[in-house]
Amino acid sequence: MRPTADRIHGIPPTIFSEMSALAVKTGAINLGQGFPDADGPRRVIDRAVHALTHGENQYPPGSGRPSLRAAVAEHQRRRYGLTLDPATEVVITTGCTEAIAGAILGLVNPGDPVVMLEPFYDSYLAMVRFAGGVRRAVTLPAPDFRLDVAALDAACEGAKVLLLNTPHNPTGTVLTRAELEAVAEIALRHDLTVITDEVYEHLVFTGSEHVPLATLPGMFERTVTLSSVGKSYSFTGWKVGWASGPTDLVAAVLGAKQWLSFTSAGPLQEAVALALDEEQVWPAELAADLQVRRDLLCDGLASIGLHARRPEGTYFAITDITELGWTDSLEFCRALPERAGVVAIPGQVFYDSAAGQHLVRWAFCKDAAVIEEGVRRLAAADLSK
Ligand SMILES: Cc1ncc(COP(=O)(O)O)c(C=O)c1O
Repeated sequence: MRPTADRIHGIPPTIFSEMSALAVKTGAINLGQGFPDADGPRRVIDRAVHALTHGENQYPPGSGRPSLRAAVAEHQRRRYGLTLDPATEVVITTGCTEAIAGAILGLVNPGDPVVMLEPFYDSYLAMVRFAGGVRRAVTLPAPDFRLDVAALDAACEGAKVLLLNTPHNPTGTVLTRAELEAVAEIALRHDLTVITDEVYEHLVFTGSEHVPLATLPGMFERTVTLSSVGKSYSFTGWKVGWASGPTDLVAAVLGAKQWLSFTSAGPLQEAVALALDEEQVWPAELAADLQVRRDLLCDGLASIGLHARRPEGTYFAITDITELGWTDSLEFCRALPERAGVVAIPGQVFYDSAAGQHLVRWAFCKDAAVIEEGVRRLAAADLSK
């Protein structure tokens, strides 16, 4: 059969591009895709410009520039007490997205069951399909979106890989230390390899803490930890990420990565190294500021009858549109730009099951004035079904 552009391995294209294009076309406020309105630190940008204009433009090593691998290792030591050899236990990738792809393609064989939390970041499903793996979802039940430990345990029976994400997109749940201890116990008992996506590691709000799974007893040896510069430093368009962990797991990511991109943007890597080494306070300030915008969005949504559970981290809040009489979030989100001049993301794109049909994800990583205008428009619109 002739290949078509609309479906790859039976996977429909991501809804994010459709929604962002809809925002541009209709002049709507984009509370959909997770990218901030403001850039990260100026001196980090200047370092990238310097690299571009001073001859740092050729292929970096496949595993990444030594300066950035060292900066990632030092970040993991300083923040979490993890000791990594930057030569063999860190690989630089094209965003966390490629780290996810490399980890799954490198560690999942055809037929292997892969356990993941549902709702899930949409590339997980695509990559498991690319690898020929079999997805097993453990639903975080609405409206609290907390981990059901017994369900996770049952799903891990006979599985090989667990794909975890905390802080969690799209729910904003940050797994507690106690929940992660339960995950670790399950991973050890079922002898799982764990891929943990910690791309929102710095974007955690008052009352919660981010605990990397790899820091728990017995877990470093079986865990590959993924992150990137995008969310922590508001450079989502740079697409510089990394995987870290024991040599064999990192080698598996690198083994797949070499056939994906081979290597990742060199000049940006030097700038990201500077960010990690010298802009250590910046992500905490961003998180404090984001918390204010989270409250602005959640209070605004509540004022129009949509009551979001207050997320503990990330860029996102989730609402239940049955509160407004709707049941299908895709239908709601396709109507929203016309009705209200606002774009949001339908929850069902994060689910395989029907459990997300009535949920909508809203981004609060936008400027406060943009959120206020979005809420004003929603309040003025007729949102009844
Ligand atoms: C959970 C999660 N993982 C990974 C990514 C992708 O990160 P990057 O832009 O660094 O590829 C995102 C981006 O939205 C995300 O939400």
